[in-house]
Amino acid sequence: MVIEKTSSSLVDILCQRRQKLATLIDFPVILWSGSSNPRNFPANHFPYRASSHFLYFAGLPLPNVAIHLEAGNLVLFMDDPAPSSALWHGETPKREEIAEKIGANAARPMAELESWVEGAATIAVQDAATWTQQSQLLNRWVLPQNPPQGIDLDLAKAVISLRLTHDDAALTELRQAAAVTVAAHKAGMAATLNAKIEAAVRAAMEGAILSHNMTTSYNSIVTVHGEVLHNEHYHHPLQPGDLILADVGAETDTGWAADVTRTWPVSGKFSSTQRDIYNLVLAAHDACIAKIRPGIEYADIHLLAATVIAEGLVDLGILQGNPQDLVAIDAHALFFPHGIGHLLGLDVHDMEDLGDLAGYEEGRKRSDRFGLGYLRLNRPLRPGMLVTIEPGFYQVPAILNDANLRSKYENVVNWQRLSEFADVRGIRIEDDVLVTAEGSEILTAALPNTADSVENLVNS
Ligand code: GLY
Ligand code: MN
Repeated sequence: MVIEKTSSSLVDILCQRRQKLATLIDFPVILWSGSSNPRNFPANHFPYRASSHFLYFAGLPLPNVAIHLEAGNLVLFMDDPAPSSALWHGETPKREEIAEKIGANAARPMAELESWVEGAATIAVQDAATWTQQSQLLNRWVLPQNPPQGIDLDLAKAVISLRLTHDDAALTELRQAAAVTVAAHKAGMAATLNAKIEAAVRAAMEGAILSHNMTTSYNSIVTVHGEVLHNEHYHHPLQPGDLILADVGAETDTGWAADVTRTWPVSGKFSSTQRDIYNLVLAAHDACIAKIRPGIEYADIHLLAATVIAEGLVDLGILQGNPQDLVAIDAHALFFPHGIGHLLGLDVHDMEDLGDLAGYEEGRKRSDRFGLGYLRLNRPLRPGMLVTIEPGFYQVPAILNDANLRSKYENVVNWQRLSEFADVRGIRIEDDVLVTAEGSEILTAALPNTADSVENLVNS
């Protein structure tokens, strides 16, 4: 539990968030933090992560507590630590101290929460112990996988409208997460020439994050098999000619996230085929970021990436045809099968615990098109939104060997030419981009991304 960071300014910002929520809804809210779950005996826990909706209004990653919000007031429900806990965990702050830290109006034992549930809305927490307790106390199913209904839906929409754009306190934290993430990627590149397996690069990267008393905002992807989009294995040897794809982000101790990907040659030098594809992905990345400004549709940014990738693949002789026509039939998705990015905030893929409620403008639905199905954000951009831009190129066997896709796209791919790019399994370049009133700011701009600069960092 981190309490040192709290200050009157944090209490001020938490109070502002609670007041803003009170202007959007006229019913009480109970937000649970989530429970810390034992692995094999009560004092040996799985890593604990508080619910992001709770963190947004309470500021501290407290386990096993709840807050009742009404008309801008907060009542904290928390049990004091058992007397025996000091032996194993040291003295931890008591309910009244925590209440002061977070600017609570009152603090009560957890057992009293049941008399505060009348008419309250909530948002499901991911862990089963907590959503079971939510369901029992509120006397209705509150399940993380079910879309919210009734007042829970009204609450979700109100919270989304607040969390979609970031206030100054959030941006301070997000900038810190971004800076440490930049340091982690530089550490990973610098460690590569001496590393024998992926795990050694991962260790250098996560070591840089841990040494700042941060953690990772998702399971790191550090792999020579970048074609597996969320590869979480780290045992492969690093061999000359391999590319390493590292998608690693830091999270501050109050939960704010960064999410960055770089791809670099294990040997310190891209082959000519790797460099060609790298430059194509970078061209898509740069073109997308250049377009970010208030009012632009994020779906159009995605289609721009698809078009730049299709153009580049036509120029390289891998795709055949008019790039616009190729995008219209989703041919780019053979090599760029995911969306251009997502919201970023207290979570990577911010607020995806609410399905597409946050990512999709009201009235819009996910497409089932091959090239659009993984588009996670489909809204016009607004100042204060933080998004990732992460185009990629992958040779995914499950796509390229799929009989249906293969026959559908038989004539638009030059399979012979593609075989010359066998040393490019996966390349992704990802930065975190804040939408500003004038355009955009890349929070992770301190991490170079040109092919030359990446080579230099590996060789430095
Ligand atoms: N960093 C992983 C992702 O964006 O899905
Ligand atoms: Mn991402």
